[in-house]
Amino acid sequence: MKEIKRTCFNTEVNLNKVGQEVYLIGWVHKKRDLGSLTFIDLRDRSGIIQLVLNNETKKFPVVKNEYLIHIHGVVNKKDIPNPKLLTGNIEIVVDKLEVINTAELTPFIIDDDTDALEDTRLKYRYLDLRRLCLQKNLILRSKIVSITHDFLNKNGFLEIETPVLGVSTPEGAREFLVPSRNNPQQFYALPQSPQLYKQLLMIAGFERYYQIAKCFRDEDLRADRQPEFTQIDIETSFLNQEQLLDIMDQLLYRIFKETIGYEIKLPIRKMEYDEAVNVYGSDKPDTRFDLKLVDVKDLFINSEFEIFKNNKYLKCIVVKNSANYFSRKIFDELNLTANKFGMKNFFNLKYVNNEFSGSILKFLTDDIKNELINKLNLENNDVIIFASSNIKYNVNFGLGALRNELAKKLDLIKNKDQYDILWVVHWPLFSKDEITNQLTPEHHPFTRPCDEDLKYLDEAPEKVYAYCYDIVINGYEAGGGSLRIYDQKTQTKIFELLGLSDEDIKKRFGFFIDAFKYGTPPHAGIAFGLERLTMLLTKTDNIRDVIAFPKNLKARCPMSNAPSNVTEEQLKDLHIKFE
Ligand code: AMO
Repeated sequence: MKEIKRTCFNTEVNLNKVGQEVYLIGWVHKKRDLGSLTFIDLRDRSGIIQLVLNNETKKFPVVKNEYLIHIHGVVNKKDIPNPKLLTGNIEIVVDKLEVINTAELTPFIIDDDTDALEDTRLKYRYLDLRRLCLQKNLILRSKIVSITHDFLNKNGFLEIETPVLGVSTPEGAREFLVPSRNNPQQFYALPQSPQLYKQLLMIAGFERYYQIAKCFRDEDLRADRQPEFTQIDIETSFLNQEQLLDIMDQLLYRIFKETIGYEIKLPIRKMEYDEAVNVYGSDKPDTRFDLKLVDVKDLFINSEFEIFKNNKYLKCIVVKNSANYFSRKIFDELNLTANKFGMKNFFNLKYVNNEFSGSILKFLTDDIKNELINKLNLENNDVIIFASSNIKYNVNFGLGALRNELAKKLDLIKNKDQYDILWVVHWPLFSKDEITNQLTPEHHPFTRPCDEDLKYLDEAPEKVYAYCYDIVINGYEAGGGSLRIYDQKTQTKIFELLGLSDEDIKKRFGFFIDAFKYGTPPHAGIAFGLERLTMLLTKTDNIRDVIAFPKNLKARCPMSNAPSNVTEEQLKDLHIKFE
């Protein structure tokens, strides 16, 4: 193949190069034929530049959209700049144009603004990825990875790979299993995260580990979840929570500054888990808007309204100056959201011209009315939404979900360029199902309980807090971690509390527990979701926009058609038989 000369990428051509010759390569993004002149928007991964072909001076080969072409020309200053393009003040007057490869008509137009169905775009993902908006996202993702490598390498972290074919770990999600040909009826589990391995690397004495790690979780998909995703996975020895978070603050600072030029104020503020849940109704609070939850149980202790009087929990949010906004339809929509969090129903009161209205009006005594006005600082046209239940979780998280939805509906986030970044710290070790009493780890079973709470571990484990932290950005959980248990006794105790029998523990985690016998260092770690960070920095709310080849909502890849059937032969090799 003959050499394809290139001077630079399209957007590196600028006013300083006026009069100079350039060689460029790119795809024909758009073409306008005006008879004597042809204008071509040439696209490469950096962006678009306009080419001018003078058909009266030369005969150029015919080109169509998405043809790959190589051109030589001279940079010219445009009389009328195009403000929409980065290169809008220049154009290339072409004297040589060579078609490197032709293209068939594409199934959809390659443009940022597309109305092609997502499954069609995913089927032809290599074409979809030609869209500059997606290229920009993946370029930014690559920058995050490169900054991370640089920062962590400079801070004494070692990049160490851990197995993808591993054993089942209790991270909470369903696992992907891989049958073993050599070991009939046995399976590897794909890692939900490298949690066990990174802790073992601390026991092995590496002190600071990191990995850009592929993780796999067979969960129901959402806009911010994929079955296969990537973590910036980190583990350290001998650091306390403050020291670790300080290093992570600096990593985040560099990522934000060097990708989008945003300066995070350090140290990143910390919020206690209890405040997050009680005041914002979420363990990942978005604090860019108010709508805080207020406990009003004390106002209704003697009320005649049985539901408010008898239920253990009663809270509300006040939506300012919105009485006209709330219609039956809006309340119905909010009800659907609340239901997802087990909040069967909520009640509302409108406060207009010093009068209350709403279905519970008849239960409001003058005292209650006055107390509501004072406690909630009510003003004309305010709306109160109440949630009441015997289950604390439902009230807090139900109202929290309404809070987030109302922020969207009422456009309550004013400064969209501002990032809201905080550490949610001091989590409960377990969550306890308020009906079945079953304990589940809030983070994972390797999280170290706070020293001062160890005394409750036997009698009231739900009272135990943990050295645990999540980084929350604009209401998204972008990462999380914890100090780890480093003695065998406590680790075994936690597994027991989670209902694992001695035999289970030995069978599933024997190797892990055993390792704790041999001089285990105190250690702590964290993992950031690389896709979540990229989503936040590129301001997309669809995780598929930051993954080159994602799965659709049915966990399928419409391009390769994975997952697919396999041959009888393959199944036989794997000792699998379908009934
Ligand atoms: P955790 O389970 O909180 O912690 O995961 C860490 C971060 O990974 C991201 N994440 C996901 N991103 C996309 N799709 C998913 N399905 C998905 N699941 C999680 C989130 C989350 O904050 N081993 C521990 C970390 C530690 O303790 O060091 C862990 O995996 O951004």
